[in-house]
Amino acid sequence: MLPKFSSRAFLAPMAGVSDPALRLQCKKMGAGLVVTEFTSIHSIIAKEQQLKENNKTIQEFLEYSEQERPLSVQLFGSDLLALEKAAKIVEPFFDIIDYNMGCPAPHITQQMAGGALLQEANLTQQIFNTLVNAVKKPVTLKIRSGVTDASRYLFKEIAAIAEDEGIQMITLHPRTVTQRYSGRADWKMIKELKEISNIPIVGNGDIITPEDAKTMIDQTNCDYVMIGRGAMGNPFLFEQINDYLKTGTYKQYSLKDKLDSFFEYLRLTGKYNIKFSNIKSQAMRFTKGMVGATKLRPKISGSKNIEELEKIMTDAYVLFC
Ligand SMILES: Cc1cc2nc3c(=O)[nH]c(=O)nc-3n(C[C@H](O)[C@H](O)[C@H](O)COP(=O)(O)O)c2cc1C
Repeated sequence: MLPKFSSRAFLAPMAGVSDPALRLQCKKMGAGLVVTEFTSIHSIIAKEQQLKENNKTIQEFLEYSEQERPLSVQLFGSDLLALEKAAKIVEPFFDIIDYNMGCPAPHITQQMAGGALLQEANLTQQIFNTLVNAVKKPVTLKIRSGVTDASRYLFKEIAAIAEDEGIQMITLHPRTVTQRYSGRADWKMIKELKEISNIPIVGNGDIITPEDAKTMIDQTNCDYVMIGRGAMGNPFLFEQINDYLKTGTYKQYSLKDKLDSFFEYLRLTGKYNIKFSNIKSQAMRFTKGMVGATKLRPKISGSKNIEELEKIMTDAYVLFC
């Protein structure tokens, strides 16, 4: 059974972005569910082996905190034996196992994973069957609508297979794989999926404001919304969506609040093993929209360590806030 979610707004899995520090911030600001960055089933197996030899668990590789719960781990990879093994390794630590069938990056689709699987109904059916039978925790799915424009309705067939095999929730990002991030997400497809489904549907794509979240829910009748880019450097969005859905209003946050939030992010990163290049990218996102941000960017990207970055951001704070 799916856990109870405290809000209808979820944080999307985003490689290099939805690290445990940002996830915790979004969770504290009211995200109903947070999902790890997608992780290769093969890397999970290899890491677990290494860690075991040092009496450590996969938590050292897939870092998280208890406060993030309910927490979903996202897997990719289509080798059935490896999938079963990886799912069993992560199961004790996570509340939901999510499967990625949306990633458009060629290095993923070329290994018959991510969005490429949308056109492989047989293999997909075996993947769902393997996952659902491997674990007792709920298994969910995240898909794009199709591979090319001509196959943009593949999501209907895949969703039917998923439901038959016991997948408990589906997130739809209604763009095709070849579309990547161009054009607009076609929210009509979320409505169509909701109409043919008996399991919860999560609508995803192009939600930037609380108003967008409400419009998606009103237009599609989806059960939950998932936010990716709109939450980058902006964990406040979850509180704003929750308030807007409840009361029709929400609190505005200032650039000073955003910078404060970045310092909190920085403090949280100290507990985890997050790549410094990713932390610098987060700094760029938290300063988006600030007057003077263009001057700040080269300084951020040139910083060599956390101390330097902190100094640059502290100076910016004094200058702009
Ligand atoms: C930098 C970045 C990394 C992403 N990584 C993942 C990922 O690991 N797994 C996944 O299912 N989707 C991933 N996505 C897709 C998002 O989860 C989401 O479906 C997409 O961005 C559309 O939602 P949005 O318009 O709210 O950003 C990523 C997107 C971005 C921008």
